[in-house]
Amino acid sequence: MSVVEFREVIKRFGKVEALRGASFTIPEKTVTAFLGPNGAGKTTSMKLIMGFLKPSKGEVLVWGEEPWRNEGVRNRIGYLPEKPVYPADIVVEDFLSYLARLRRVGRLDVERVIRLVGLEGVADRRVGTLSRGYLQRVGIAQSLLGDPELLILDEPTANLDPAARREILDLLKVLHKDLKVSMIISSHIIPELQEVANYAVFIDKGLVLDYGYLSDLWKRYEIEAVFNIEAVDAGAVARILVEKHYVRSVKRVGERVLEVSIDPGYYKAFEGALTELSHLVKSYSFKTTSLGDLYEKVVRSRL
Ligand SMILES: Nc1ncnc2c1ncn2[C@@H]1O[C@H](COP(=O)(O)OP(=O)(O)OP(=O)(O)O)[C@@H](O)[C@H]1O
Ligand SMILES: [Mg+2]
Repeated sequence: MSVVEFREVIKRFGKVEALRGASFTIPEKTVTAFLGPNGAGKTTSMKLIMGFLKPSKGEVLVWGEEPWRNEGVRNRIGYLPEKPVYPADIVVEDFLSYLARLRRVGRLDVERVIRLVGLEGVADRRVGTLSRGYLQRVGIAQSLLGDPELLILDEPTANLDPAARREILDLLKVLHKDLKVSMIISSHIIPELQEVANYAVFIDKGLVLDYGYLSDLWKRYEIEAVFNIEAVDAGAVARILVEKHYVRSVKRVGERVLEVSIDPGYYKAFEGALTELSHLVKSYSFKTTSLGDLYEKVVRSRL
């Protein structure tokens, strides 16, 4: 069964049509990127999934149920709002304990989420004294209370500096790996979503332009991923990489630098191969942000 299904969903706020007949499905065990410009309808879609809003027309189904009719659905979802507001004077741990009581979640769960998101060092600090990065961890911690089956994170890296952004992204990767929880993450920063997502829903002006597994979308829109690799022995690395079935080409662009093009669905396999070659590879980086290319192509194909 799919986790989320939108059937021709229309959502109006007075005269504004935030969603204009949006349809998509999200399968189990995915990390889904909600991608779209400001005002596309990402936050509205998330609130519909939470059951905070009711569709004006069409159907929103979460685990086959309509969330606005069925509060039980909401209890299985963790939510990080777009603009969370935290009380400044309360100590981090007390704040989480308070939320745990409200949601009838055991005290032990507070310790668990504090550990999970790395808040141990600041658990006794007042919320108002935390940096933005740590505040965002508090937000993610509260979303994890009660061990939800689905996490909805509305722009979890917005307003963070590059280092904090990096930390939150790494945290999300670890959470997905350790908790195996499905996630929906919105952002308009495409390259960073590429690292965590394996599924995408492209939203623009209240319409869903396309959606699906990234591995399918890469193929459908014929996108390739190009990496730059700095190697100790470029020749040796090149000889090994050309043998991989997902490697399309290996070019030597400097004495120690290779440009490698791979089928984009094989990002993880490629990373694994580079890890095995860590004695030969000094560093590697994305040359193209292929999710960006994909986004361009999806949008262009609908014009
Ligand atoms: N409560 C509301 N009342 C009136 N209009 C609203 C309301 N909520 C959202 N809208 C409008 O609906 C449209 C979609 O908004 P939404 O917040 O879902 O976009 P978004 O994709 O999350 O954008 P952003 O990237 O800026 O967060 C916008 O035009 C917005 O102004
Ligand atoms: Mg939004």
